[in-house]
Amino acid sequence: MSLHLNDTYVAPFVAARELDAIRPQVEAAHTLLHGKNGPGNAFLGWLDLPRDYDKAEYARIKAAAARIQKSCAVFIVIGIGGSYLGARAVVEFLKSPLYNNLKKSTPDIYFSGCNISATNIQELLDLCEGRDVCINVISKSGTTTEPAVAFRVFRGMLEKKYGKEEAKKRIFVTTDRARGTLKHFADEAGYETFVVPDDVGGRFSVLSAVGLLPIAVSGVDIDELMAGANDAREALADPDLEKNDCYRYAALRNILLRKGKTTEILVGYEPFMQMFCEWWKQLYGESEGKDHKGLYPSSVIFSTDLHSLGQYIQDGMRTMFETVVAVRETGVHVPVPEDPANIDGLNFLAGKDLNYVNDMAKQGTLFAHVDGGVPNVLLELDDRTPRSLGYMIYFFEKACAISGYLLGVNPFDQPGVEAYKKNMFALLGKPGYEKEKAALEARLAGN
Ligand code: PA5
Repeated sequence: MSLHLNDTYVAPFVAARELDAIRPQVEAAHTLLHGKNGPGNAFLGWLDLPRDYDKAEYARIKAAAARIQKSCAVFIVIGIGGSYLGARAVVEFLKSPLYNNLKKSTPDIYFSGCNISATNIQELLDLCEGRDVCINVISKSGTTTEPAVAFRVFRGMLEKKYGKEEAKKRIFVTTDRARGTLKHFADEAGYETFVVPDDVGGRFSVLSAVGLLPIAVSGVDIDELMAGANDAREALADPDLEKNDCYRYAALRNILLRKGKTTEILVGYEPFMQMFCEWWKQLYGESEGKDHKGLYPSSVIFSTDLHSLGQYIQDGMRTMFETVVAVRETGVHVPVPEDPANIDGLNFLAGKDLNYVNDMAKQGTLFAHVDGGVPNVLLELDDRTPRSLGYMIYFFEKACAISGYLLGVNPFDQPGVEAYKKNMFALLGKPGYEKEKAALEARLAGN
């Protein structure tokens, strides 16, 4: 087991009888999920994906990654939401948030199509100049505006740089198996395609081609990542709360929500966790925030954010709890240097591993926040390996599904995402949105 739930710092806020009371609901959620008869049951492919993934496609992913590694210095991954967050989270967690600046034999990786920013696109175009480039556009629907626009831009750039035939070899498309604009376009143009399985939603897709191709390009061992997820699939199938940390986490966060703790803050103590937090926020925000219900998922990286949001967490409104992910062994050890002059008074730390100092910051913060009335769920991850990360990804996916069922929502749809799109299309004059355009323009004019 790679991830362990330590309930020492949440125990003062949740009585044993509260866990007993929610136990039957957790068992019911488990039955719904595994019986595949709950809301959103057409999107449960992620549940057995670490075992049942398409082996032939998996081999193609590895082959394509090797080709991409050989043929470019810059790899642009185009996607938004679940179509990019998982890959970026894994690359930064296992390699570094400074991956592109490291000495390495793999291409730099940039993410595009996750905003509509002209400056961002232009900067990426500029840094492609004089360097070999490959792109991977990822969109399950194939119609999402942000990646579609970025794809148009980068496809044009590649065709101009290499000509249509060579560009074709540098464009990789991950989309629906058979349907959709992007699939038809890719087939017609002759691009290599990979599949977002029908029964896997965007935010649950990191262990499909969506995440695996960019992750493999970065040099991460995807076999180990999948093996870790499969460890979790096997370990986290017991409906008993006492034996299943994933279900206990889901239960605790729902109990805390019912007691008025409406915000959950995911806490990391390593900058390499920043994008993992972003992946987690999307997973939980899009899965649970509906029907005017759900915890608001937030995140911080300590000790950095102890100097910004720390004050609020310690002393502000008591509407939150924290879920701390502590990585026990980062694999990197840096001692605090000795300085005979000791003008800064730091010699009491000389020779101490920075991991130890970080750990004491964590321990001190846990005590302080609990004393300040903030429950803390502590999740201890054994190490920073692909296997452990695969385990943690699956842990959070499954906890999210159980949690959503406990909350009484469909964790696998995202109806709310459409509202802004409808307005944006109307305002931009997309054909078919004429009535909405007139209504919004009247609102703009103050009528
Ligand atoms: O989790 C989800 O389903 C969403 O975040 C999608 O991943 C996101 O909206 C992108 O959609 P698509 O892959 O269809 O472009």
